[in-house]
Formats: sequence, C-alpha cells, structure tokens
Amino acid sequence: MQNKTEHLNKKIAEAALGGGQARIDSQHKKGKLTARERLHLLLDEGSFEEIGMLVTHRSAEFGMDKEKYLGDGVVTGYGTVNGRPVYVFSQDFTVFGGSLSETHAEKICRIMDLSMKNGAPIIGLNDSGGARIQEGVVSLGGYADIFYRNTIASGVVPQLSAIMGPCAGGAVYSPAITDFVLMVENTSYMFVTGPNVVKTVTHEEVTSEELGGASAHSIKSGVTHFACANEVECIINIKKLLSYIPQNCEDDAPAYAYEIKENEKRAQLNTIIPENPNQPYDIREVITGTIDENSFFEVHKNFAENIVVGFARLGGRSIGIVANQPAYLAGVLDINSSTKAARFVRFCDSFNIPLLVFEDVPGFLPGTDQEWNAIITNGAKLLYAFCEATVPRITVITRKAYGGAYDVMNSKHIGADMNYAWPTAEIAVMGAKGAAEIIFKKEILESKNPELKLKEKEQEYIEHFANPYRAAERGFIDEVILPEDTRAKLIKAFKMLENKADSLPRKKHGNIPL
Ligand code: HXC
Repeated sequence: MQNKTEHLNKKIAEAALGGGQARIDSQHKKGKLTARERLHLLLDEGSFEEIGMLVTHRSAEFGMDKEKYLGDGVVTGYGTVNGRPVYVFSQDFTVFGGSLSETHAEKICRIMDLSMKNGAPIIGLNDSGGARIQEGVVSLGGYADIFYRNTIASGVVPQLSAIMGPCAGGAVYSPAITDFVLMVENTSYMFVTGPNVVKTVTHEEVTSEELGGASAHSIKSGVTHFACANEVECIINIKKLLSYIPQNCEDDAPAYAYEIKENEKRAQLNTIIPENPNQPYDIREVITGTIDENSFFEVHKNFAENIVVGFARLGGRSIGIVANQPAYLAGVLDINSSTKAARFVRFCDSFNIPLLVFEDVPGFLPGTDQEWNAIITNGAKLLYAFCEATVPRITVITRKAYGGAYDVMNSKHIGADMNYAWPTAEIAVMGAKGAAEIIFKKEILESKNPELKLKEKEQEYIEHFANPYRAAERGFIDEVILPEDTRAKLIKAFKMLENKADSLPRKKHGNIPL
C-alpha cells in the first residue's frame, strides 16, 4: 500500500504542476495566475473537489504521444463560493497553451452536464490558444459540444465566463452565449480573427489589446460586461455577481438579512431633478438614493452609457435595475442601449429576479446611422424583452417619458405590475416644442410674431401634458409619489408582488427580433 500511495501522490503532484515549473514561471511573468491559483482564489477554502485530474489526450500525431500532461490543460470540478455550490473549469495555459483537445472538451462538458443536472452555476476561467492544432477537426467537434451545452443550459443555470488570457477564433462563442463575460485589462483578449488576419484582409494595423482587449469589449462592442483591472478584481467580481443571483431557474436569489425601517423617507431624492427639464442629472443618484446602502452592482458600466443596468438589493432582496441615464445623450434610447437593457431584462426574467425601472427618456435617437443599423429591430428587442418578462416589474418615471420610449420602458400596457411617477414626470407623445410646431403649425405661421406664438403654444402643451396627471387619470400611473417616499413604496410593492405567478401561453419558444 505504501508504494501505491506514493505512486498516487506522485501523480497528484505531477498534475498540480501542469505544463511544468518553467511554464508556470512564464505565466507569472506575464502577470497571470495559474489555473489552480485562480480556483484557489475563487472557491471557499478547502471546498474544491477536482474531477478528471488524471485525464490525458489521445492524440498520437505530430509526436503528441510523447507529450502528455495530467489533466490535459484544464482543471475541472466543483466547490462552493460563500457556501453555495458551483461547477468550475479553469484552463491551464501551461499545457499546450490551454488549447482545447478532444479530452479537454470532454472534461468541460462533463462539468456542464453536472451543473445542469444539479442546478448550480457554471463558471469558466478561460485562458486558451483555441483549438488544439495537432488534433484538427476533433478539437472543433469539442468546441461544438460545448457551444451546444452553453445554449441548452442558457436560462437553466447561470453561466459566467472570465477571460484571463487569449480567447480567439470560434472559441469566443462559448463565452458569448453565457450570461456574463468578465475580462482582465491588458492580459486578456477576444477576437474572431486576430491582428494578422485583420491586416491582410482590411489593411488595418491594430494590436491585440486594441482589437479585442478588455477596454475595446467593455466600451465599444459590449461583448464583455466587466473590465477588471487585474485577475484578483475579476474573481472578486464573479463572487459579487453570484451573491445577487439564484442557483438555477427554479430558485430565488439569496435574500440577506436587512432591517427595514417602516415608511423610511429618503429626503435626498427630493433635490435630484433640476428645475430646468433640459438639464442632466446622474440617474445613479436616484438608484443609490433608493436601494439598500452600497448594494448597487453595475453591469456593462462603460457600454451604452445612456442606459444604466445592474443588480441591487431592496430590503435585502435582489432586484435588477434598468434606468435611463439623462447625464449621457440625454438618456435617449438607441441601438446599443436597447440591446444592453434587453439582454439584462432577459437574464433577470430567466432567473426570477424582479425588475425595477427608473425612466427619464426623451425618445429614440434619430438619424441615418440608427435607422440603417436597425434601431427598429434593436429597439424592438427591449420592447419584446419587457413584454415577455413575468417577474415582478415596477417602473418609476422620474421625468421624461416620451413617445414610443414611454411604451417600451416597462409601461403598464406591456405588463408592468406597478407604475409610479414623481410630480416632475412629463408623460406625452413628444417634447412640447416639437408638438407645438406640428399641431399649431398653421396658427404659428399665420401669427404676426411666430416666435412668440410658438412659445405660447409650447407653454400650453407643457401645461397640458408635461406632467404625470393625464396618465394618472387613465390609471396608466398607479400613484404619483414624492421622491422621498420612493424606497418605502417600492419595498411594499415588491413585497405585495412576492408571490406573483404569471406565465406565457404554451409555445415552443417566441421569436425575439434578433
Ligand atoms: C496547440 C498551442 C496552441 C494551440 C498555443 N500552443 N496555442 N498548442 N494548439 N492552439 C502552445 C504553443 O505551442 C506553446 O507550447 C504554448 O502553447 C504557449 O504558446 P506561445 O505561443 O509560446 O505563447 P504566447 O506567445 O503567449 O502566444 C499565445 C498565443 C499563440 C497567442 C495563443 O500561442 C497562438 O497564436 N496560438 C495559436 C492560436 C490559434 O491560431 N488557435 C487556433 C484558433 S482557431 P510550448 O510547448 O512552447 O509551451 C480556433 C477554432 C475554434 O480556435 C473553432 C471553434 C468553432
């Protein structure tokens, strides 16, 4: 037995070294942690149980039969984060550059299958040179096996992808299907075709970082939801994200003990909206002024900043917030803000997280760029996402709710459960000036002083419609509330909606305008 124990321990030690000390050193020199160090940071102390540590590849071509590493470039298993079970895979760049072989893919698939059957999130730490070049199509098949599982698992268990090194070619499509993508600044990149191919095809000179680094994808493309300064921050963000979301689609998000003050007033909310309706303000002040202290966790912070989305807690319970941002492009809805918010709404609805909307939107962004790039189809995504959502849904209109954007931003008509407005709300078909120019066109033109007449008519329209009362008369707004009472009202309303049971008609699946 002594010999056998030693033999096993030798194998465990060998597996722990991955591609060997020299390659581990090289990984560290690049400012990167190893696959196992990352798991150590992510999982609760002593909770990790590894699966498939002794797996090796089956390839014999190009001398591969003489080069085998235990684990074959990916560490897989299960553990806990803050006591809650998760399934994990962590690609090991020290073994063939973390490239994906047949067996490497099989290990990931096994973890994904377990995650789905047992209803716990799957977290992938990606650091890979892509398909194992020596294996050819077998490796491509492995990728497809993973993509298929990502898709089937979508909406069943939360799937999180951290990109901590290269992620190129078709490999990018696994993270892209998952719910959240996190990237590390300067050491990770994602692209379908790299700088060399780009140069050949389009003659553009671009570095990997410029083309597909964390900044590019968090600001320009929106592919990543979180750009993290380093790997430790990335792992902290994964843990934080998990704290807001449930284990699976049948479960509720964890609730935290929180002492709710009865009818609590938040007076700071009373002074946020400027006197001048065209002056911007930061909607984050409204969000943080309403929710539990320090509970806002913003998602997609640097992308489409005209809409703010993120998780928060209200009386200890998780909610998803979607809010127009008047401080950026006046909070207008455009293609990127619509798709950003639509994806977030669908995540929350998939995983039973109630939705809170703060609305201050002047309408959709006009222009050829928007029209030719399909603001119609993309705006429809947000509309569709809200219409389809069956979780408790509440809207607070802080200021503008104009035009089609009024309908889209979680109006009562499309299934919101409770809609509030502040006294500063303006709910109308369009802004007063534009409206006056159209409906009083003749009168203005025939007037001796058209400019003065326009001002007069604009004022008339403002008095008529730039308020919440027309909508309240119709019951489109359930209550006009003082800003300071928003928190107390929302806590009560979400409590009232706690047992909401709603469902869609039986169908195979809807056809969201993609
Ligand atoms: C096998 C690979 C590999 C790969 C890297 N390695 N990529 N082995 N298959 N895809 C090995 C290297 O041979 C090297 O082995 C070690 O990993 C580290 O690689 P380096 O090049 O020394 O590291 P670095 O300079 O950091 O460059 C990393 C890299 C580069 C940018 C990822 O290795 C690279 O460009 N690799 C090829 C990427 C690629 O074209 N992949 C296929 C994409 S297509 P040693 O023994 O020296 O340590 C694809 C299709 C998926 O993925 C389709 C799904 C539908």
